[in-house]
Amino acid sequence: METKTILITGANGEIGHGLISHLAEHDHVKIVAIDLNTLDDTTRNRCFKVYSGDILDTRFLDSISTAHDFDVIYHLAALLSTRAERQPTIAHKVNVDGTLNLLEMAITQSRLQGKEVKFIYPSSIAVYGLPDLKTKHEAGRLNEDEWTEPRTMYGINKLYSERLGRYYMKFYRQLDANPMGGSVDFRCVRFPGLISAFTLPTGGTSDFAPEMLHYAAKSEHYDCFVREDTRIPFMAMPDGVNALLRIEAASRASLSSQVYNVGSFSPSAGELKTRVKSAFRSAEIEFRPDLKRQAILDTWPEDVDDSRARKDWGWKPEFDFEKAFEEYLVPAVREFYRAK
Ligand code: SER
Repeated sequence: METKTILITGANGEIGHGLISHLAEHDHVKIVAIDLNTLDDTTRNRCFKVYSGDILDTRFLDSISTAHDFDVIYHLAALLSTRAERQPTIAHKVNVDGTLNLLEMAITQSRLQGKEVKFIYPSSIAVYGLPDLKTKHEAGRLNEDEWTEPRTMYGINKLYSERLGRYYMKFYRQLDANPMGGSVDFRCVRFPGLISAFTLPTGGTSDFAPEMLHYAAKSEHYDCFVREDTRIPFMAMPDGVNALLRIEAASRASLSSQVYNVGSFSPSAGELKTRVKSAFRSAEIEFRPDLKRQAILDTWPEDVDDSRARKDWGWKPEFDFEKAFEEYLVPAVREFYRAK
């Protein structure tokens, strides 16, 4: 079996940790990781090479691109939705210009290697924007094309980057008399909020679910920044990692689109609290909505229709709500804080 060289940006983030620990179990994989921050020793040791630097620095990216031939790029680096509202211009730079830089790297690599380079990109339910709660309730599960009217900088950045990826794959420099060649195989999954037992996200608006769990596991009081009836889709991190690996492994012929919803469960914040409290009986969780963050969540869908992913590449989450808590989140988060 040929060894695959895989570039992962945002390696120090939540998905990066999960993805690297999974990929590192395979023999024929060389992981090259990029992050602004240094990686913890465990993650670092799982990588073939680690670079600290900024994806906006094209000279930094060029030096990495010269040193390796990538088969696959997982471009995970991003500023999440709450943080992006506080620093919109920085978010735009990282989320859009950063993605553009990586797509340029992919097409250059493809040209030089004379073969296709896969580009795996996590997008988000933030690409949706429902106008009001009544419409949200009536709309229910949204497919990929409904209500893509994002109201946040992050959502706009993600939706645009989905389209950039499609452009690089299908229409790049379409007017050239002598096309330069190069081929990017862009594949994108739109994630719901992700919940990991080992890491907490930073700067997201879906963070209330993982925060509720982790605060309870640490026996700390949690003021939840949303209303009890707030409902958006979530996914356990192992399924998130699995979705990325599955879409990467899918045959090109089976993919009818570049962008796929993936879903698994969709509890209200109140249902999350009940489930967390059944595992951590002394947990103190109070709902104290932050009206502005709430307003963002009210524009995100109650659930997603992921039938396209199920049909094209056999997507199926391993964890539903109960199984995610019973078999992964509760035991793993308990163990995580016990070992600290
Ligand atoms: N988790 C992201 C956020 O809250 C949404 O995909 O920003």
